[in-house]
Amino acid sequence: MTVANLKDVVKRFGNVQALDHVSFDIQEGEVLGLLGPNGAGKTTAIRALAGLIGADSGEIILLGEKQDVNNIRLKQHMGLVTQEVTVFEELSAEENLRFFGGLYGVKGDTLHQRVKETLEFVGLSEHAKKAPGKFSGGMQRRLNIACALVHSPKFLIMDEPTVGIDPQSRSYILESVKRLTTQGTTVLYTSHYMEEVQAIADRIVIMDLGRVIASGTLDELIGRIQHEETIRITVTNPTATLLESFRAIQGVKTVIQKGADYAIVSGAGSGNLNRVLEVAQQNGGVSNISADKPTLEDVFLTLTGKKLRDEETNS
Ligand SMILES: Nc1ncnc2c1ncn2[C@@H]1O[C@H](COP(=O)(O)OP(=O)(O)OP(=O)(O)O)[C@@H](O)[C@H]1O
Ligand SMILES: [Mg+2]
Repeated sequence: MTVANLKDVVKRFGNVQALDHVSFDIQEGEVLGLLGPNGAGKTTAIRALAGLIGADSGEIILLGEKQDVNNIRLKQHMGLVTQEVTVFEELSAEENLRFFGGLYGVKGDTLHQRVKETLEFVGLSEHAKKAPGKFSGGMQRRLNIACALVHSPKFLIMDEPTVGIDPQSRSYILESVKRLTTQGTTVLYTSHYMEEVQAIADRIVIMDLGRVIASGTLDELIGRIQHEETIRITVTNPTATLLESFRAIQGVKTVIQKGADYAIVSGAGSGNLNRVLEVAQQNGGVSNISADKPTLEDVFLTLTGKKLRDEETNS
């Protein structure tokens, strides 16, 4: 089932075309990774999808209904984790959750139960009575996520939920996104960290300058770019025959030998790792092997001619 569908959505802010005929869909139970550099239009796409802003043209269908700023009913079925943390610093974690749950009409025992479950889900049960003003950045982000989940939405939108947090909180969040989908929640996960998207997304939409420049599974996206694959292998028995056997493998373009080390360059998408390993093992054995595979960064670089992001500084 299609959970959300953006069709040809256009949004302008003055001279800036934030969304330039954007189309993509999200299927039930999947994590759709929305990847793009600063200013690509990710947050604008999310705000339109969530019905927080209207589009200039195009159409957004969410859970079978037309999304628009006045559609309150649809908002009850979705959760939105905003890019900036939006919790009340002076209320305790638990009170924040009771507040947001209440806004969505969750009450009584159900609310009590949901507050408990969501705190547990994000690993903050022990901090239920504490105010988030004293939390670390990672804990605040986790509470921010909990606030979007307390009403058990079918569809969760997360706008860069891991920016500037410690590695433990980051892996905790990524892991909980996976757990959510096993419980049947559909997730739109936005990030400019390609490693995260590569790790958790079932399908990926890449945006740049307001446009969708590519979409598909990781394998599909990587398959689209022409990229050579280099396998480096160290063998226990380097012989001239082995060199010839490597050269004879289908798709292999070049083999460079230095003592027991061989660098084997294959054409795009040849997937020769197993074949190389097999040939080397028949010839005596392998002491080391590695492969340089193309990444989403290479996909982005090939499609746009620029890097997805500047080198990360800290955090
Ligand atoms: N309310 C607004 N008024 C004017 N311009 C805006 C507004 N919101 C977004 N923009 C512009 O639209 C473009 C897309 O912005 P958007 O916030 O959607 O990008 P983003 O992909 O979420 O970027 P980031 O990674 O920095 O969060 C940018 O050029 C931005 O400056
Ligand atoms: Mg943004």
